Amino acid sequence: MPGIEALAERIDTLMAEMTLAEKVGQLTMLAAPSTVTGPYLSDDYREEIAAGRVGSVLNLYGPEKVREVRKLALGTRLGIPLFTGLDVLHGHRTVFPIPLGEAAAMSPDLWRRTAEAAARDAAADGCDLTFAPMVDVARDPRWGRIAESAGEDPWLASRFGEAKIAGFHGGGLATCAKHFVAYGAVSAGREYAETDVSERALAEVYLPPFKAALEAGVVTFMPAFTDLAGLPMTAHVALLRGLLRERWGFDGVIISDYGSTGELLEHGIAGDLAEAAALALEAGVDVDMMGGAYIKGLPIAVERGLVSEALVDEAVRRVLTLKARLGLFDDPTRESVASNWQPDLSLAREAARRSIVLLTNGPGLVPLAPDLRRIALLGPLADAPEQMLGPWAGIGDPRTAVAIRAGLQAALPEVTIEHAAGVEISGGDDSGIPAAVALAENADLVVLCLGEERGMSGEAASRASIDLPGLQRELAEAIFATGKPVVVLLSSGRPLVLPWLFDQAAAVLATWFLGHEAGNAVADVLTGRADTVGRLPVTWPRSAGQIPIHLGPRPTGRPTDDRTHYTSRWIDTPSAPQFPFGWGLSLARLRVGQMRVDRHVLSSGTTLRIEVDAANESEFATEATLFLFIRDPLASVTRPLLELRGLAKLELPAGGSGVAHFSLTTEDVTFPGVDLRPSLEPGLVRIFVGPSAGQEGLQAADIQVELGGGGTSA
Ligand code: NOJ
Repeated sequence: MPGIEALAERIDTLMAEMTLAEKVGQLTMLAAPSTVTGPYLSDDYREEIAAGRVGSVLNLYGPEKVREVRKLALGTRLGIPLFTGLDVLHGHRTVFPIPLGEAAAMSPDLWRRTAEAAARDAAADGCDLTFAPMVDVARDPRWGRIAESAGEDPWLASRFGEAKIAGFHGGGLATCAKHFVAYGAVSAGREYAETDVSERALAEVYLPPFKAALEAGVVTFMPAFTDLAGLPMTAHVALLRGLLRERWGFDGVIISDYGSTGELLEHGIAGDLAEAAALALEAGVDVDMMGGAYIKGLPIAVERGLVSEALVDEAVRRVLTLKARLGLFDDPTRESVASNWQPDLSLAREAARRSIVLLTNGPGLVPLAPDLRRIALLGPLADAPEQMLGPWAGIGDPRTAVAIRAGLQAALPEVTIEHAAGVEISGGDDSGIPAAVALAENADLVVLCLGEERGMSGEAASRASIDLPGLQRELAEAIFATGKPVVVLLSSGRPLVLPWLFDQAAAVLATWFLGHEAGNAVADVLTGRADTVGRLPVTWPRSAGQIPIHLGPRPTGRPTDDRTHYTSRWIDTPSAPQFPFGWGLSLARLRVGQMRVDRHVLSSGTTLRIEVDAANESEFATEATLFLFIRDPLASVTRPLLELRGLAKLELPAGGSGVAHFSLTTEDVTFPGVDLRPSLEPGLVRIFVGPSAGQEGLQAADIQVELGGGGTSA
């Protein structure tokens, strides 16, 4: 890439030649129909490109096709190259687990490696930029897009986003942090609904992952479709221009979500496309994705004096700078990008295996006993390869996905595995249940594969009742009635509310949507060839009435106590979730030693180090996961009962041991004070280390925070 000055000069020269229409073209992104990710398409995107009215394209892939379209842009009067964008979320041709599933692996290293592999795959297929990572904090599993998130916690979402950004960049894709901000807080979990969160919730929960993404070098941002307390994010001057650009210093491109500039009319804050375009541009949106609002509205907005051409110029400059940064002026048809990509199925299998969470394992059914001779493999998700790819599966070929049935049969060639779906995922036909029951009665053990259809989570897939659709409960109850031992595999894009299932099934595993290698990964853990190392990145509710539910509620004046009347609780549902954040059982037995803290006073400039010994007292090699939480019990504003601050992983061979390390600085105990400015307050902070946010197994130590050196404000 040329130096900054040479670049600025090149862009100046180009801009001096551009007409307003050509400038607006650079700010316009149209969708190709290679894949459909929104409610409207542009039939004439090629003609529009050839006419110089489009600066970027989404949903286009295939090296030849993309090259041909790039050439259309190069054939225009100024020959400005195009950039291409695509949702490369958890893989492209090879599909990895959905983000919520992969988050359960709790491994920044894995998160980075799968992003890098996906980026190489997509870049070889003609893609320049991915609309990822999604760093929305999701605390309401009714919202379908929880599947695309790293779950409920801002600290975890930040680490997930950073790792993904590093991986995507390493593999040759530019990135986009989305959806800025608080999309995950949609009212009642209903897709695209309004959001209305406090400034404190923004500062503590929803904004930190975006700040982390910025610091990790994310290339673009995408505002959320939603409004925030009455102001649609696409037109949110205070948050886009004020916070993101001016206070945080982001000088890259902001790309609207699909059609969201035009949708300002539906929101009811713009009377026509010219007003919509002016509002979005004023807020700082540079590129209008599939809205047509900039093409149609921006020239009129300039003419009416709603926006200045100078503001248009600023946006165009940012877009051209991005193109230069992507190397497109020097290699506009991407000849330099290798197209000899090869799938990495071993990485897909590793990621899938490490994402599985063993939720319950009553009588130790997992790993399956070696003397099993006959397994009844039942349920509508047992032999459903296409379902394994999840809701936003890139362009992964479902025919090459490994179904649970295929994976298990390959791993257990000596065992007779008989299969019946019993019921459809969401249909109303129960005629297959008797045959499934007959197989169960004839088997040593049942593996029952239940869950959601892949399209029941992801975008535009919120559910009000997050239980098993269709007649799956009827099937499960009939199988439980046989008295056979039952291992349930739950495929879903969210935690499902199934207290009745957890009461009856001997063992339940969350298998999310694991991607191409799903069946092999499931077989790896069911046979005990690999330990179950996934840990929940989300609190699992036992009732939809508990939602939103997460690890860090604030204390109340009447602390929760299910046995006492005047306390914060429900009278019809226990307060505890089905499973806490971080929950997950291992086949290995871990002995965790006493935590050691190297100092009891934390002041600015110092780092507190925490160590814990862990020993694997079993014959299974494992990967231990321990979390660090804090609680500030006395502060100027109430602080959450737990806040996640660290994650440690230990690879432990059978019989092996190791030491988990954590560190804490004053930044970790600084919070938005009464005035929402960062505040570091002296006094006691309790730190906790343990396997999950559940109270069992958490060790505590008290430390003193002292001001010294840095004053009261961090
Ligand atoms: C709409 C989604 O909200 C966004 O996440 C995605 O990147 C775009 N469509 C493009 O497909």
